[in-house]
Amino acid sequence: MADKKKDSDQTEHAEGEAPLHGLLAEYDSTAALIAASKKVRDAGFEKWDTYTPFPVHGIDGAMGIKMTKLPWIVLGAAITGLTTAILMQWWMNAVDYKYIISGKPFWSIPASVPIYFELTVLFSAFAALGGMLALNNLPLPSHPLDLKERFAKVTDDKFFLMIQAADAKFDERETRALLEGTHPTVLDVVLEDRTSPSKLPTGLVYGLLIVATASLIPFAFIAKARFAKSEKTRVHVVGDMDWQLKFQAQQAHPFFADGRAERPEIPETVAVGHLREDDHLFRGKEQDTWARTFPTSIEPSADALERGKEKFGVYCAPCHGFAGDGDGPISVRAQELAEGTWVPPTNVHQDYLRQMPVGQLFDTVTHGIRNMAGYGQLIEPEDRWKIVMYLRALQRSRQTSVDDVPEAERGALK
Ligand code: HEC
Repeated sequence: MADKKKDSDQTEHAEGEAPLHGLLAEYDSTAALIAASKKVRDAGFEKWDTYTPFPVHGIDGAMGIKMTKLPWIVLGAAITGLTTAILMQWWMNAVDYKYIISGKPFWSIPASVPIYFELTVLFSAFAALGGMLALNNLPLPSHPLDLKERFAKVTDDKFFLMIQAADAKFDERETRALLEGTHPTVLDVVLEDRTSPSKLPTGLVYGLLIVATASLIPFAFIAKARFAKSEKTRVHVVGDMDWQLKFQAQQAHPFFADGRAERPEIPETVAVGHLREDDHLFRGKEQDTWARTFPTSIEPSADALERGKEKFGVYCAPCHGFAGDGDGPISVRAQELAEGTWVPPTNVHQDYLRQMPVGQLFDTVTHGIRNMAGYGQLIEPEDRWKIVMYLRALQRSRQTSVDDVPEAERGALK
């Protein structure tokens, strides 16, 4: 009895107190709780709950809890995420900034799969967490049950059931009678919480405000960087391999008398294997005029043409097009941008290029011409010749007559 007085719990709701929040019944066993739950469920209550120290098998059924809506929320978010990703990839790669990457189509679905997957998962994960919190009415900083001292036993060995006064079916007397019929060990009233402050602590509010304001600072920097011009090199957060402990071309070097890190070639010397005496092979010349024949080491063969075709596809087709008409994707794109400065790649089927000695074509590939850069540094001389050989084959392919077809097969043409 003395115990009961010390406990501020009351068993009847008196006038003039805080409003009633609900009726709380306490049980000693899961069996009693489940039996009570079935009665409350069958009486048609909706705003009520059970509280147990551990998960109780069968309580969902006894309470009539339906399957959660959360999977549908997550599915909706997943579809939204996937749609967002598809639209984003399509807009960025196929509309706003068309750019060929590794020869893929502008809107390449396989290349975008990682992004589709990531956004689907990201949206789903946030929806799962947010949906779970929202469906459970969380976060809930205080609850009337927090004020019930005996309710603390819910983490130990007692089982509770509370019907809220907010339920449409709630009537203090009838509900009390119903709960008494379930033989609780204790039946208690729970009053609304009037003691816990309903506002967030001021310190926390200011803290959140400061964090929210500070989180805008990076965006301010980004906005500034987009619109302001600066002479300074940009801030380099990750150094990668930009700064290495070595000297690079055109840097100063304190060791050498001329102060240059780059050492000039020693006059009258040639590196081993770099003595390029053969004028025909290395410069495309014969007796100081452009060679009209291929060097003897470059024999015309299916293999040589195949090699030339491969290298032409890598180095020339991006501008000149695979058939040499000057309509490669780089040129098409440059013309779309229509900035007026683009010199289109030459169509290699023009007469003057068909007449041009192979040695001169070789020289064009090696050193470039007017607006076209040279490829001498990138392609071995043998391959440059094979490119020229393939170029000749391309030109020839437009100048054929029926005489080029073997006599036996001419009939098939008609
Ligand atoms: C980056 C684009 C680009 C690439 C790659 C390129 N070219 Fe060109 N090429 C041009 C342009 C542009 C011109 C016309 C230059 C001018 O008239 O100023 C040109 C001109 C030429 C000409 C005509 C030369 C003349 O005498 O009129 C030939 C032949 C040629 N290119 C062959 C090649 C071959 C072979 C390759 C591959 C090794 C190649 N080009 C790679 C852009 C390119």
